[in-house]
Amino acid sequence: MRRSRPRPWLRLEFDRRQRRRTRVSSDEPKSDPSSVWEDAYAGGDADRSWTQLEPVDSLKAIAVALPEPADPVIDVGGGASTLAGRLLADGFSDITVLDLSSSALQLAQRRLGKSAERIVWVQGDLLDSVPEREYGFWHDRAVLHFFTDPVQRSRYAELLARRVRPGGHAAISTFAPDGPDRCSGLPVRRSSHEDLENLLGDAFENVATWTTSHQTPRGTPQPFNWIVARRRTN
Ligand SMILES: C[S@@+](CC[C@H](N)C(=O)[O-])C[C@H]1O[C@@H](n2cnc3c(N)ncnc32)[C@H](O)[C@@H]1O
Repeated sequence: MRRSRPRPWLRLEFDRRQRRRTRVSSDEPKSDPSSVWEDAYAGGDADRSWTQLEPVDSLKAIAVALPEPADPVIDVGGGASTLAGRLLADGFSDITVLDLSSSALQLAQRRLGKSAERIVWVQGDLLDSVPEREYGFWHDRAVLHFFTDPVQRSRYAELLARRVRPGGHAAISTFAPDGPDRCSGLPVRRSSHEDLENLLGDAFENVATWTTSHQTPRGTPQPFNWIVARRRTN
C-alpha cells in the first residue's frame, strides 16, 4: 500500500479502512458510505455527477449572505470542490474544508498547491468532526441529503445551531423533490424549501431560497433546492 508523506500542516486523519477501495457496479445499491466516497473520487471529474468547476450557486449563496473575509467559513462535505480556492482568492483567511473522503481532500489540496497550507482540512464524518468553534458561514452543497435518517437529521440541525454564530449564515443545498433519489448509489432524502426551513427550525431565519438545475458533466439536469438562512441573535 502506498503511504502519503506526513504533512504536519494537514489536520487530516487517515482511516485505514477507507483506503480499502471496493469497486461496486454503479446501479447496485451501496451500503458503506466511506468506501463509496473513496471509490467515487478514484475516477476523474467527469465521473462525479456533482462536479462543478465554477461553483456558481455557492458563489450566489455567498453574495446573499455576504460573510466578511475575516469570518470563519466551513465547507462541510466540501470534497474536491473549487469553492475553497475561490474563497482564498477573495481574501478569506479562515477556511475549513471537512469531508469523509481523504481522497477528495487530497485532490482539492493538490489543485491548490502551496495555498492549501492556508486551509484547515478535516477528514471525518461531519456529525462527529466539525471543529468545536463558531463559524460565520456554513456551506453544504449536496451533503445533507445523504442523512436520510430522522435522528441524523436532528443531529445535523443541532450541530448547525451550535456551530453557526448568532448573525452568521448557513447555505445548504439538496436534491429537490423532483431530483434523483440516489447519488453515487446511496439513497438520498430530497427536500423542498419548506423542508429545509423546517429542519433549520427557530434558530434560523430564512434569507433566500432558490431552485437551480445542475448539469452533470454528462449533461443530465439535476434540480437542487438552496436555502440561505441567518442564525437568529436572540
Ligand atoms: C455529492 S458530493 C458534494 C461535494 C462538494 N460539496 C461539491 O459541491 O463538490 C458529497 C460529498 O459529501 C461527502 N460526504 C458524504 N457523507 C459525509 C459525511 N457524513 N460527513 C462528511 N462528508 C460526507 C462525500 O465524501 C462527498 O465529497
